[in-house]
Amino acid sequence: MPKIYLDNAATTRLDDEVLQAMLPLMTENFGNPSSIHSHGRQVRSAIEKARKTVASLINASPSEIFFTSGGTEADNTAITGSIDTYGLKHAITSPTEHHAVLHTLEYLAKQGTIELSFVNLDEKGHVDLVHLEELLSTKPRSLVSLMHGNNEIGNLIDLEKVGEICKKYNAIFHSDTVQTMGHYKHDVQNTKIDFLVGAAHKFHGPKGVGFLYINADNKIHPFIHGGSQERNMRGGTENVYGIVGLAKALEIAYKEMEQHKTHIEGLKSRMIEKLKAAIPDVRFNGDSDNLERSLYTVLNVSLPPSEDNDMLLFNLDIAQISCSGGSACTSGSDVGSHVLGALNVQPERGNVRFSFGKYNTVEEIDKVVEVVTGLYGSVPKA
Ligand SMILES: Cc1ncc(COP(=O)(O)O)c(C=O)c1O
Repeated sequence: MPKIYLDNAATTRLDDEVLQAMLPLMTENFGNPSSIHSHGRQVRSAIEKARKTVASLINASPSEIFFTSGGTEADNTAITGSIDTYGLKHAITSPTEHHAVLHTLEYLAKQGTIELSFVNLDEKGHVDLVHLEELLSTKPRSLVSLMHGNNEIGNLIDLEKVGEICKKYNAIFHSDTVQTMGHYKHDVQNTKIDFLVGAAHKFHGPKGVGFLYINADNKIHPFIHGGSQERNMRGGTENVYGIVGLAKALEIAYKEMEQHKTHIEGLKSRMIEKLKAAIPDVRFNGDSDNLERSLYTVLNVSLPPSEDNDMLLFNLDIAQISCSGGSACTSGSDVGSHVLGALNVQPERGNVRFSFGKYNTVEEIDKVVEVVTGLYGSVPKA
């Protein structure tokens, strides 16, 4: 049996079509986009074409798109830039955000730049919007940073609703949309949002490149100082092939979105049903078995207490199955998941995140269920 990759929330396989789009920029079109000669101009034009593509897909203007080194840098730029530029003194986030957001805000709080509040979560890990309003009513002009789709448990927020609440209190709204970009349609004209972000490697593009959408009403200070690239917002020679690959990957993702959603959602439902049938005490962390309110790409499974749970990921790896026990960025390390910690998941249970992509098959799902069931000593019902 070939290896099975079910860690698509960590990263995805590069699409061959994306690679083909990138190759000329790695070979004959090697100019520096800041150079004014023809070699440079040719590459500049490739970047601007990519910017237009990304902008039109999310219904933004090209001047609102800034290319970055990935999701982390885009999150950092939005958070530090808005707090610095507007002199914000208070930020609201949730305990289940990605570290790209949490550690940035915690750093600013430790420096004394902001006071940080955490919005309450319900028992399934969803953000309590009534509490968000309560927090905003006492400190209206705040930064609100709430992720669209959680990378560990898959919980989704209602972006439009949160945007409306933020607008009502004149708050700045940043959403880490890394896990939904390329998987859900974003339309910034119909969402009251100041910043959203994308990372190409989460939708079959290259690693090390992403983008930040900054609503045209915001003129924030840069995060990386240097040359005048990205309209003075991000110094440094552009990752040209990455940018071209990102735009191509997003274009493909939008074109094939419905087809892939149906396929991937089918895989997730199949795994839920098969696991429930095979392992009576199986549970799902957060709201990840709720198809309406969680990412169709993520299923966070909670397996019954067992002496072998410490070895669960190792045993799956031995069985040629790649998946994750916690956040993508900490997979492989033994640091416990802050997301599962915030949900008070029992530590003695075996927690594993399967995340699906367009290249996964029904046969792979069946194989994984068979292996997991074998590890828990139970036989799947016919
Ligand atoms: C929700 C979320 N935000 C941010 C990031 C960081 O993105 P990048 O690795 O492109 O910096 C990730 C990556 O795992 C993520 O899942």
